Amino acid sequence: MSEAKRLAGEKAIEYVEDGMIVGVGTGSTVAFFIDALARIQDRIKGVVSSSDQSTQRLRSHGMEVLDLNATGPLSLYVDGADECDPHKRLIKGGGAALTREKIIAEASEKFVCIIDPSKRVDVLGKFPLPVEVIPMARSLVAREIQALTRGQPVWRQNADGQGVVTDNGNVILDIHGLAIVDPVAMEQAINQIPGVVSVGLFARRPADVVIVGGEPPILL
Ligand code: A5P
Repeated sequence: MSEAKRLAGEKAIEYVEDGMIVGVGTGSTVAFFIDALARIQDRIKGVVSSSDQSTQRLRSHGMEVLDLNATGPLSLYVDGADECDPHKRLIKGGGAALTREKIIAEASEKFVCIIDPSKRVDVLGKFPLPVEVIPMARSLVAREIQALTRGQPVWRQNADGQGVVTDNGNVILDIHGLAIVDPVAMEQAINQIPGVVSVGLFARRPADVVIVGGEPPILL
């Protein structure tokens, strides 16, 4: 799959125009995009990053990472996804960066999503849906999500059995066992629960273009 990720990441370079400030997502597919972007970095004005992980990789290439508050709206955002349905609605957040990803997607005119073929689904929900939560609300949000969705929220842990802490200092609940027939309604409903910072459903603001890596890449 990493060859498909590379092909998707490199194809996305075609959407980068001279003088742009580019929004950059997070994950293994985006890593290929960052490496390709580094090769044409002289042509762009800068980047806005969605995570500490991406910031590190961007800086390792000598790229200047800008503050979204200083840039205004962005022309382009490039990011991966964990699942993508035929309407370009997505599940994201497998890398715990969903909140900053959602902010940059909202701030961008065009969202180009880069995936390998395994991410395509008819109905979202087989991949556990990530929700970023303020730590003190973890149990409350888990109960409310269970009642609302009938799914099973699981507190995300790292390999050492410690709760994962996001770049924003919060925790992640992954909701298992969903078949999301109305992603916009579920996104809105989960967003309403006090303590939820954001939910990894990108349905109200889906991708504009999806590049499925392959020879040749497929555009949705
Ligand atoms: C990060 O939080 C996610 O939204 C990623 O975009 C998503 O998990 C895709 O990651 P890969 O490109 O590593 O599959």
